[in-house]
Amino acid sequence: MNMSGILSSKVVLIGTGAVGSSYAYSLINQGLSDDIILVDINKKKAQGDVMDLDHGIVYAPSPMTIRYGTFKDCKDAAIVVICAGSAQNPGETRLELVQKNVNIFKSIVDEIMKSGFDGIFIVATNPVDILAYATWKFSGLSKERVIGSGTVLDTARFRSLLGREFGIAPISVHGYIIGEHGDSQLPVWSSANISGTQITTKISHERKEVITQQVKDAAYQIIEMKGATYYGIAMALARITKAILRNEQVVLPVGTLLEGEYGVNDVYIGVPAVVDRKGVRNVIELSLDEREQEKFAISVQLLQDFQQKIG
Ligand code: 2OP
Repeated sequence: MNMSGILSSKVVLIGTGAVGSSYAYSLINQGLSDDIILVDINKKKAQGDVMDLDHGIVYAPSPMTIRYGTFKDCKDAAIVVICAGSAQNPGETRLELVQKNVNIFKSIVDEIMKSGFDGIFIVATNPVDILAYATWKFSGLSKERVIGSGTVLDTARFRSLLGREFGIAPISVHGYIIGEHGDSQLPVWSSANISGTQITTKISHERKEVITQQVKDAAYQIIEMKGATYYGIAMALARITKAILRNEQVVLPVGTLLEGEYGVNDVYIGVPAVVDRKGVRNVIELSLDEREQEKFAISVQLLQDFQQKIG
């Protein structure tokens, strides 16, 4: 990583759709970066966002600048966040969408690397596990420096539901959703806890099933109600950004490459990992019970099949 990459808090955002612009708004509100660049093929939309967000900076918690830019601006960025990509059209299969977005990512990541970028990628576009893997391959960067949003959002949904269930702040409820950011994800009930006391014995099997399903269905439900999800993922991306820029060494269930952890190789998937200024420092291996191991294996297999199909 070059010196400017280490010292700067410059964030370049690629793709200013609903997710990207909500993320930029979170960055500004939390004062996470003092140099924010927005890049989008729809220049007019991105420039409009820049103007709008810039007016809010007057009331932001710390000084910062925001401007429209190009891929060249990635050169000395600490973090490049990719929210760009195509959304699923009616009648389009998931795999067709994957291939389309992988192709888009190929050209985006090539352009970014051509700039001399030497920082950390955060990938948010769906299917995020596959696109994080593709970004890692296309960029040639070490796995530590390519991070998917993984199950950070799903885990927030899980903790929020459990918090409500027990009448305790979600921040004091500890537990993870791991696996694919999608239908094959799983909650790790066996280690979910409040103050170290196990949750799994304090909640009925039926309630567990309901909560598991609610976490899985949350995105579908929101999309059905308002067309897309963006605030939750924006906050999740801001959380990962903060962990990196402030060298937090905090554990977050990001999307990262497994190389032997959980007995698995060569797959990007959501698992708890330590995140700091260098990116993903190391994966935390939760001890899964037998059923969780089986479910995790299914999720891994599904993602590996997809990875293979896209070549
Ligand atoms: C979400 O989980 C759709 O991936 C998006 O909100």
